[in-house]
Amino acid sequence: MAESTKTAKLTIDGKDYDLPVYAGTSGPDVIDIRKLYGQAGVFTYDPGFTSTASCDSTITYIDGDRGQLLHRGYPIDQLAEKSHYLEVCYLLLYGELPSPAQLEDFESRVTNHTMIHEQMMYLFRGYRRDAHPMAIMVGVVGAMSAFYHDSTDISDPWQREVASIRMVAKMPTIAAMAYKYSIGQPFVYPRNDLDYASNFLRMCFAVPAADYEVNPILSRAMDRIFTLHADHEQNASTSTVRLASSSGANPFACIAAGIACLWGPAHGGANQACLEMLQEIGTPDRIPEFIARAKDKDDPFRLMGFGHRVYKNFDPRAKVMKQSADEVLDLLGIEDNPTLQVAKELEKAALADPYFADKKLFPNVDFYSGIILEAMGFPTSMFTPIFALSRTVGWISQWKEMISDPQLKIGRPRQLYHGETLRDYVDIENR
Ligand code: CMC
Repeated sequence: MAESTKTAKLTIDGKDYDLPVYAGTSGPDVIDIRKLYGQAGVFTYDPGFTSTASCDSTITYIDGDRGQLLHRGYPIDQLAEKSHYLEVCYLLLYGELPSPAQLEDFESRVTNHTMIHEQMMYLFRGYRRDAHPMAIMVGVVGAMSAFYHDSTDISDPWQREVASIRMVAKMPTIAAMAYKYSIGQPFVYPRNDLDYASNFLRMCFAVPAADYEVNPILSRAMDRIFTLHADHEQNASTSTVRLASSSGANPFACIAAGIACLWGPAHGGANQACLEMLQEIGTPDRIPEFIARAKDKDDPFRLMGFGHRVYKNFDPRAKVMKQSADEVLDLLGIEDNPTLQVAKELEKAALADPYFADKKLFPNVDFYSGIILEAMGFPTSMFTPIFALSRTVGWISQWKEMISDPQLKIGRPRQLYHGETLRDYVDIENR
């Protein structure tokens, strides 16, 4: 951590406390309150972590006011246009763009780990067929710690590296198998001659009776979706992974915790919820009704795919996603997609509405992604698993950064207690 550049003064009951302030390379300064409880006997209170920096990181930076997302300094729109997912994985994991030789070596290591232990197939078969693929993924990824026990010692850098490669490599296989299982089709094994995105598409859509010819434009669109979701600094699921791993838990268990957190509709589950909402709206004439509901304080309905804790401007990922949606539908010859039509009209109507403008609510990454995924042939239940497989590299990068930090401490927040104070137990016959 950088040296303290200035101090903040806090006065409690007339007594002053000087708190160190640190500056990062970008973003707001932070006030170091680590010694506050020891010195002043008070905690700080910030339940949704709206003003709390939980760690010191060098991986991803978001400027929410400018609508900017940088991975290791590189803007997401440049990465989405010029790079590809595995190169972005390398960048997130190791800090720099790879040389051609480094990239080749990394891609080959990932490609050689795409199969899963054959016995893991039995795990899938234990689930009900109608299980949500996210439910299957939480369980199967957690179970990786049983199948890959030789890479669970977090104190060994080599095992950490092997676990990282295994997760990046196997997550598409696991997500595709969760899908195949849910539709009653046989699993399709990975093929090492295909690139990462094409391999995933084939594992989802090929059947033994007919192979799936991967369209390079669809594969590029899939790769771009992976890239746009690769990391997003300290969001809820990443913080979950960090908190889980702060106890020393193994990486597979921690990533399973991240998947569980991602599933919620306020987070990664929003892509499924958003497409379902757009389909429910159905036609542009019903948009005002849904906008009115989103604004109504007595109605819990929210415009899914809108708003963000950090972005108070356009989510840069949404811009790329919108352009991709146009390209994919065009390629597939889908000219008048009613859902895309509703999405575009809804975006226009919301952006022109003072409620959304005043609260700085803009479309987020989930607003257009579902339209692309649906056009590719994915059911809505697969949207969040695709987010999970893309985000795995971000979770792992953040986990690796945290584990190698010599200042690592178990995450243990405190609380403002409002319950009963000390009282004596009452025997049951006297209650
Ligand atoms: N529709 C209508 N009103 C909204 C929306 C929305 N989508 N989002 C926020 N608001 C209102 C909210 O009611 C509140 O109003 P008020 O100040 O009058 O009480 C104000 O805007 C601030 O909202 P908040 O809930 O305090 O903000 P937050 O930072 O805690 O929540 C959010 C961020 C993403 C959870 C929220 O905007 C939301 O629920 N959006 C819909 C779900 C969604 O699209 N999630 C995906 C996020 S991006 C991908 C990811 O992270 O996984």
